[in-house]
Order: sequence, then C-alpha cells, then structure tokens
Amino acid sequence: MADNIKRLAVFCSGTGSNFRALFHAIRDRELPAEIVLCLSNRSECGAFDFAREQGMETMFISEKQFGSPDDFGRAMLGALQERNIEYILLAGYMRKVPDAVIEAYTDRILNIHPALLPKFGGAGMYGIHVHKAVIAAGESESGATVHLVNEEYDKGRILLQSKVAVLPGDTPETLAERVLNCEHILYPDALEQFLAGKL
Ligand code: GRF
Repeated sequence: MADNIKRLAVFCSGTGSNFRALFHAIRDRELPAEIVLCLSNRSECGAFDFAREQGMETMFISEKQFGSPDDFGRAMLGALQERNIEYILLAGYMRKVPDAVIEAYTDRILNIHPALLPKFGGAGMYGIHVHKAVIAAGESESGATVHLVNEEYDKGRILLQSKVAVLPGDTPETLAERVLNCEHILYPDALEQFLAGKL
C-alpha cells in the first residue's frame, strides 16, 4: 500500500448510511484513504452488514465487556494502534469515545452531527431528539456539521457545515430525512478537504 494512503476506522452503531457514503466517495473520487476497520458497540448492525459485503474487518467492542472504563479505553486504543489506524470517522456512533482514544487521536477524529452546531448539540442531542428540538425552537433552517472530536460532546472545532430549510409542516421525521441526505454529501466533501489539508 502506498505511504500516502491514510488508514481509517469508521465507528458506527446503526444503519451506517454515512459510512456507505464515505466508502463510495473514497472509491469513486480516488481519495488517498482506505477504511480498513468498522467498529461498533453493537454486535450486529447495518454498518457491519455493509462492511462484510466489502470484505472489511468488523470489530464489536463494548464497555460492557470490560471491568472499568480505563480497561475499555486501553483495549480500544490497542486495537486501533495494532492496525495502524491513522484517522477515525464517527458515523452514527452512539457512545462516547474513551478518553484514551481521544487523547491519542487529537485532531484525527471526525464526527457528523445532524444540526448546525453550536446550536442543538451536547448531551441528549442525538437522533430524532435533535430534529424535534429544531422544530420546537421554530428554526427556519437546519443542516449538518462535520467537526473534530474532543472530550466534550459536539464541542470540537467545526470543519464544514451544510444547511437545509425547515419547511412549514415538517415533522421531526421529514426533517431528519432531509438532513440525512445532506449529510451524505457533506461528510465525503469534508473528508476530502480534510485529507487535502484544506480544513
Ligand atoms: C446521522 O444522522 C448522524 O448525523 C448521526 O447519526 C446518524 C447516523 O446515521 N451522528 P447513519 O447510521 O449514518 O445512517
């Protein structure tokens, strides 16, 4: 493998539609990266199905398998380092990344959040809760944010955002669908620019 091909891990908990979008963009745009590991806190998920179809390694790892948060963090970090993972892409990973991993991968972990941070972020702001809150606040626009991950939920440096309208009559579900479609464009674009050192 060429030296300039970055080795990526994707962390998922669910469907993995962003993971798929990233995977296809890397291949179609010939980005200098390869997703070599799909990690999840769930033993089965849509993301794993896709990873297996691609012949990619999957890893189920959960804090419940360990005696302490420190043991969990050490095990996850060890697994990443053994595989020479250089960057981590969170794509619908519904757990906090252990501190040991965040420290070791400072400025090398990206996440996508389904709102325009710094609004509608933080603890409890995930999934449909985000879109409910956006509608309840009477916002006229929402969107998605790709940001770096630090020890505080949704507080790392913003890399790229994309907006969508909140339409009259929107439900949290219709808004979620519009935002998700925009995520599938935004995350690959952000990855491409990030890898090129432009963000
Ligand atoms: C996306 O809305 C993303 O913003 C959030 O979790 C969701 C993941 O969806 N972090 P998917 O698994 O990529 O389909």
